[in-house]
Amino acid sequence: MHLREAKSDLASSGGARGGKLALDAAQASTTPAIAATARILARLQDQPGPLLPVLHAVQHELGCIPAEAVQTIAEALNLSRAEVHGVITFYPHFRTEPAAHHTLEVCRAEACQSMGGERLAAHARTALGCDFHGSTPDGNFTLEPVYCLGLCAQSPAVMIDGQPHARVTEAKLDRLLARTLEDTP
Ligand code: FES
Repeated sequence: MHLREAKSDLASSGGARGGKLALDAAQASTTPAIAATARILARLQDQPGPLLPVLHAVQHELGCIPAEAVQTIAEALNLSRAEVHGVITFYPHFRTEPAAHHTLEVCRAEACQSMGGERLAAHARTALGCDFHGSTPDGNFTLEPVYCLGLCAQSPAVMIDGQPHARVTEAKLDRLLARTLEDTP
């Protein structure tokens, strides 16, 4: 079975097996992250294939999926922590640490790669001083890969705080990053 299919099967299996006792215990917790995760689970865990919707909702509410949320999700959906962690690490969208103030996403898909995307990605790493899925020490930028922004004809492309930018050279990226910081209140 292909890895993606395996993850999909896994993602769709948890809710059916339940985990109400674990959820009740989590809801009684005083930790804000666990309490928020328990609320999300109470809303979503009975729908078919609950794992991915739960992970999306937790990241949307908490900004990331912290270890304590992984534990709560695993117990509620009758999965192991390793299984939940495996799904989180499989999808580049999910993060286990909070993002910085700004997010730079560099397209790593084929069209951009063929137009200098790899060089641009290397420049982004150097300019920010961190690798993909990492953040600058000052907490200003998080660097993430993205796989096609729909700007293939104008590649290479990046996205900063949800705003796409096309035909990005190294110099243009430097200007975009500087402008982002200047515009930060
Ligand atoms: S491959 Fe980069 S925008 Fe499509």
